[in-house]
Amino acid sequence: MSKSFDVVVIGAGPAGYISAIRAAQHGMTVACIDEWQNRDGKNALGGTCLNAGCIPSKVLLESSELYHRANHEFSKHGIEFKGVGIDVSKMQKRRASIVRQLTGGIAGLFKAANVEGLVGHGRLLSGRQVELTPVGGKAEVIEARHVILASGSTPIELPVAPFDGDSIVDSWGALEFDAVPARLGVVGGGVIGLELGSVWSRLGAEVVILEAMDDFLFMADRDVAREAAKAFAKQGLDIRLGAKVTSAKAGKGKVSVAYEDKSGTQSLEVDKLVVAVGRRPYTDGLLAEDSGVQLDERGFIIVDDECRTSVKNVMAIGDCVRGPMLAHKGSEEGVMVADLIAGEIAELNYNVIPSVIYTAPEIAWVGKTESEVSASGRPYKKGSFPFAAIGRAKAMEQTEGMVKIISAADDDEVLGVHIVGPMAGELIAEAVLAMEFQASTEDIQRTIHAHPSLAEAVHEAALAVDGRALNFPNR
Ligand code: FAD
Ligand code: NAI
Repeated sequence: MSKSFDVVVIGAGPAGYISAIRAAQHGMTVACIDEWQNRDGKNALGGTCLNAGCIPSKVLLESSELYHRANHEFSKHGIEFKGVGIDVSKMQKRRASIVRQLTGGIAGLFKAANVEGLVGHGRLLSGRQVELTPVGGKAEVIEARHVILASGSTPIELPVAPFDGDSIVDSWGALEFDAVPARLGVVGGGVIGLELGSVWSRLGAEVVILEAMDDFLFMADRDVAREAAKAFAKQGLDIRLGAKVTSAKAGKGKVSVAYEDKSGTQSLEVDKLVVAVGRRPYTDGLLAEDSGVQLDERGFIIVDDECRTSVKNVMAIGDCVRGPMLAHKGSEEGVMVADLIAGEIAELNYNVIPSVIYTAPEIAWVGKTESEVSASGRPYKKGSFPFAAIGRAKAMEQTEGMVKIISAADDDEVLGVHIVGPMAGELIAEAVLAMEFQASTEDIQRTIHAHPSLAEAVHEAALAVDGRALNFPNR
């Protein structure tokens, strides 16, 4: 007789593994199928995020930032030493070890929660049956009362610059370089381009980023994008806007790149080229022809606001469905669908999803940009506050950037918070909570913020919205 579960999840990334644990917490029998294989041939839970995305990139960002600060900042504190070196192999061993600890941690969580982790390829058949094909094994069919599809995403490949796994690589390849390339080209000045460009630039690579759009960080608030562009230029990141790559050819340890910009045809020679021009939903081999689940024209699984597909009791979450491709968005969808399956009321506020870019300075935002609020026609007011006027930021020697808050002129509701500066990714949590609770700007103004802290910049920006900043002249 075939195995049967209340819930079968396909994919153990941050969307899938969280939904599996949450469903098990509701007392349901749960299996989670995953086929992820690392370069060493070993299977691991955690998907892109833990193995080749969020976690390894942040590990390298931390290591490279410390190296950079040791070289460029410590002497300002009076700390003098000679000969700071970087051992790339040791840095990479640390990355691999942290990834191993965390992915192994999920296996432990599954055991504790009674989730059955199944290694292999999952395919949704009709009638909520799932076919599991273990690596090198025979396919079996599993019965499920509910199925959650969480198959994630994969990098978009440019036909003019195909990946070769060595000189022209995707983000995963760029996380595993075993030496600092002297010259690194990055196609795409988005989140990955900036984060991974920063890592290798801090370690000594000459980095050129080719971005097709004319606007830098087009999805961010313009004031924040401008501040960030200034900071990156100062760090030596060469970001070329309006640059459309027409070809990339690898040969003799070099990559020759051709691109068009408004001045005409340009060329560039680099040692390695990273292509990071976005990701696409990954549903290869996921759905049998008669599964009934539908995809949109871009390949995303079509779902409603509650992540229900067109097939009863089949949900889909994370990067394989609409919305930002962010780990925390997928995880919260995972919690929501498990709660819905358990018969609880659950929803997700898609208007309040934080975005963070872990560069230095960090960039973080939640809610609408000023252009979006302006386009909505709603009257608004705004205020900003520079980290240069924050004592804690001065102590940290990290005074670049600011906090900007946009609020409704009619009822004072906070509509958007945009931060570029130290620990922006942590500071944004206060804004997310405020917006989740539909706080007014006055609520933030009257909230006591510890002194001295970076969070005082959020407090002062809220005050500045009404021309009441206390530690900086109001305009
Ligand atoms: P995934 O993490 O992609 O997991 C899907 C899993 O399903 C994989 O293990 C896959 O092997 C498995 N799978 C797919 N199909 C099948 C099948 N048919 N059978 C069995 N298994 C299958 N997001 C953030 O929020 N913060 C960050 O800092 C951040 N940094 C990133 C850095 C990089 C370099 C990259 C590439 C991404 C980053 N992201 C970040 C994005 C984040 O990784 C994704 O949004 C997140 O991993 C999506 O989670 P998911 O569970 O939907 O999919
Ligand atoms: P992205 O969408 O952030 O950026 C891609 C960039 O490439 C865009 O600026 C786009 O204009 C540009 N581009 C597209 N085609 C191009 C071309 N042919 N030539 C030159 N430029 C081109 O995508 P990215 O950086 O690949 O990251 C994928 C996703 O992964 C992100 O959207 C995000 O959801 C997630 N991610 C999140 C992180 C975080 O939360 N800190 C970190 C890294 C990734």
